[in-house]
Amino acid sequence: MHAYPYTITISSEKGGVGKTTLATNLAIYLKALREDLPVTLFSFDNHFTIDKMFELQKREEEAPDVHAFLMGAKAGEVVQTGQYGVDFIRSSSELGDIHERFKGPMALTRMLAESGIFGIVIIDTRPDLNILTQNALYAADRVLIPVKDLPSLDNCKNIFALFDQRGIDKKSLALIPCLIDSRIKFEGIFKDQKTLLRAIAINRGYRCLDYYISKSPKVESLNTNPEGKIYPILTHARGTEVHSQFMEITRDILRSVDAAKETRACLYHTWLLEKEAHKKEPYLARLEGLAERCLICGALLAEHPDDRSFYFETSDRAARGFLHGNCVNNMLCSALYGLKEHDSTFDAFRTLVADKATRAVSLLLPRIDSEACRLDYRQFSMAGEQLLQKNVDMPGFDAGEFNGVHDRLYLLLNEALAGFEGALRKESWLSVFPIDPGNPEAVLHEESYKTIHRLQKQFAEAILSN
Ligand SMILES: Nc1ncnc2c1ncn2[C@@H]1O[C@H](COP(=O)(O)OP(=O)(O)OP(=O)(O)O)[C@@H](O)[C@H]1O
Ligand SMILES: [Mg+2]
Ligand SMILES: [Zn+2]
Repeated sequence: MHAYPYTITISSEKGGVGKTTLATNLAIYLKALREDLPVTLFSFDNHFTIDKMFELQKREEEAPDVHAFLMGAKAGEVVQTGQYGVDFIRSSSELGDIHERFKGPMALTRMLAESGIFGIVIIDTRPDLNILTQNALYAADRVLIPVKDLPSLDNCKNIFALFDQRGIDKKSLALIPCLIDSRIKFEGIFKDQKTLLRAIAINRGYRCLDYYISKSPKVESLNTNPEGKIYPILTHARGTEVHSQFMEITRDILRSVDAAKETRACLYHTWLLEKEAHKKEPYLARLEGLAERCLICGALLAEHPDDRSFYFETSDRAARGFLHGNCVNNMLCSALYGLKEHDSTFDAFRTLVADKATRAVSLLLPRIDSEACRLDYRQFSMAGEQLLQKNVDMPGFDAGEFNGVHDRLYLLLNEALAGFEGALRKESWLSVFPIDPGNPEAVLHEESYKTIHRLQKQFAEAILSN
């Protein structure tokens, strides 16, 4: 069974509110409380805090990092297990070019869904709302938005607005008061910083966690030491209030992880697979209606699958199928130049015809009246531009006679366009499209088939106009 991660994104447009501190320490607390639960952490900022905190060995220059991951590298190549059992992806100093190349807001959700990473993924973002941050927001089962003061609270509205614009449920979003200085007290009902922030948040319609993180000089000192290291709260600030606050937050998160039936990555991936399957349905239907034989030589295509170089379809779509390259080229050579196969010049003309036919669509429109039987033959470029028109007499066609020149043409027209009592279906015609003999069925795939359909429409209009 495919495994999907539960994704937590830490985001705020405001810098220095404690995002990275929250992301890194949350990873460590999660591992401490649930040792067997894989936790994978990566960051879009370029402070390399994650690398400094979790790296077991020094960074090799070319080691794959989060840039490589976003460019499509496999999780197995970029995720490494680091200190405290936390899996992480190295940070990158340059993600600027990713912004342009990153396709759409759900690209990261898809990457995570297909990555095979499971357990918990924590994404630390930059203080902005660029396309990468947006991707991290949409991928998340939970978004934690640290707010430390009124300006950072004001900034939140942009995140909420993003979700509104796209019609995405905002239930994953929650604010968490951070860097709360418990010494600051107010008079009145909003007795302190966190109560005030929470009240304003709720008043604006934002969900705010019951938990918060205090400002602590001890915590602040964890990244300033002679060793140049960044120490975790769990191991180096156990005596602080922040330690018990992290314990609480971590337990809360584990509760929602346990309660989550389907994560965002799982839902999105299932939806994608279903969409793909829906695309396949018309493809399969198109495959089903194909003629079993090459209508020119009459051979069963299952027995002679090689050289299926053309696809034909009638204007009413009643007959469709593949034709052998050899059969079509021989037919065209005879029809256009009036040559029999054993004529001395046949091969030379055939080469000429074959060369053109692989690049152009042939349209065959029989015009039969009491006076004569003629074929209105046209060639179009794949862009729908008419390249050639030629009238070909078809003596004896009406009477069902073969004359050694047009035999293949008569067979094809009769087989493809025959209607009631052997007469041709009125005003119907057929087109013959060159295809890739290496993968003939590809012509029926959604995109290629749209082209066929569009060309058929253009041909119908061209016929009507003259
Ligand atoms: N609970 C805390 N008590 C005291 N200081 C803290 C606390 N949490 C974080 N800090 C300090 O605040 C500063 C900013 O924290 P951090 O780097 O986590 O913020 P950030 O939101 O990731 O910043 P940026 O937006 O620049 O990425 C750091 O110096 C950090 O040590
Ligand atoms: Mg940061
Ligand atoms: Zn054939």
